[in-house]
Amino acid sequence: MPHPHVLLSAAVSLDGCLDDTGPERLLLSSPADFDRVDAVRASADAILVGAGTIRADNPRLLVRSAERRAARIAAGRPEFPLKAVVSGTGDLDPAAAFWHTGGQKVLFTTDQGAGRARARALAADIVPLGPALDWDRTLECLYGRYGVRRLMVEGGGSVHTQLLRDGLADELQLVVAPVLVGDPAAPRLFGPGAYQRGRLRLVETRRIEDVVLTRYEPTAPGTGDRAAAADRHWLALACELAERCPPSATAFSVGAVVVAADGTELARGHSREGTDPVAHAEEAALAKIDPTDPRLAGATVYSSLEPCARRASRPAPCARLILDAGVRRVVTAWREPDTFVPGADGSGVLTAGGAAVVVLPEYEERAKAPNRHLPG
Ligand SMILES: NC(=O)c1ccc[n+]([C@@H]2O[C@H](COP(=O)([O-])OP(=O)(O)OC[C@H]3O[C@@H](n4cnc5c(N)ncnc54)[C@H](OP(=O)(O)O)[C@@H]3O)[C@@H](O)[C@H]2O)c1
Repeated sequence: MPHPHVLLSAAVSLDGCLDDTGPERLLLSSPADFDRVDAVRASADAILVGAGTIRADNPRLLVRSAERRAARIAAGRPEFPLKAVVSGTGDLDPAAAFWHTGGQKVLFTTDQGAGRARARALAADIVPLGPALDWDRTLECLYGRYGVRRLMVEGGGSVHTQLLRDGLADELQLVVAPVLVGDPAAPRLFGPGAYQRGRLRLVETRRIEDVVLTRYEPTAPGTGDRAAAADRHWLALACELAERCPPSATAFSVGAVVVAADGTELARGHSREGTDPVAHAEEAALAKIDPTDPRLAGATVYSSLEPCARRASRPAPCARLILDAGVRRVVTAWREPDTFVPGADGSGVLTAGGAAVVVLPEYEERAKAPNRHLPG
């Protein structure tokens, strides 16, 4: 089951705090930035927070601008995004503003927490997810049951930490305010955890009055069969590369990217690249990497089409080249059809060789697009 696009949104002080320890919420954003946040809320299908934020801030989490709400209605969307909260205990104040403002609300909780939440008659759908809260199931439920395609997460630190650490965040929108908190007990944006190694991708910086907005995307591939948010970015890039292939009536147009475990791009390629009229995308990409590069063992190959299992034009098919390079993880959008090779099963060759193969069918149409002219 796919997940929504998950956007983490937070404002921090210069010393990395989300708040101070006083009774009032510390206002970190500037007026113009609060308006930007309002626009991001209006673009989202749902806003999610942890129970700690409801207890500390009693937020309403509304789209404040009447124009933005009207635009949502005109576009056939609900006036307000769905409001979602996660709580293991279900120990939430039924009088909190969260339940009594805006549109639809949902609480994701544990079996035990659901009992407590029902006893308190919280004005929300109560979704128990078993003995412990499971983030994959929470995101799947938001996507499948509530139709959420874009999820804005507005904290707090514990929720942001888990989503980034578990490779579930597609994007981080971070505002840094020129304020110093200086209190060791103040909540921090990110706690300790096994985050991705390597660098995130900086996609934007913007000055907004006296605060700075920075937008980052995670870059590290998932591990094994588990897809991370960054896998979708890299597979989308492979599909984009497929569009660059010189057209052929007798071969697929495919793009490929090889990415190290820390999110560093090692190489990219596409079919019939350069002067080689029969080059395959994975082959072209792997040829650019030193075969002794130790990062290959932990790398992921992204290919818009499943790597080939049999090939007339070269001694070794791409599935074999990938295994011989030491790569043990492949992410692809589209299983090879019978167009040129009946019963090709590159995934079978890869899994028999000990590699994990992840298929993300939501990219299949993009992978097929530059191949529409081919028979079948
Ligand atoms: N500056 C900003 O942009 C911003 C934005 C939002 C919040 N904040 C600040 O952040 C602070 C709150 O952050 P926080 O980290 O303490 O709280 P939080 O992340 O908002 O919520 C933590 C709570 O969520 C529930 N939860 C989270 N993950 C869970 C899991 N895997 N399983 C079960 N339950 C889970 C638990 O609720 P239960 O305890 O009910 O089990 C947990 O105590 C506040 O000071 C607030 O002002 C700042």
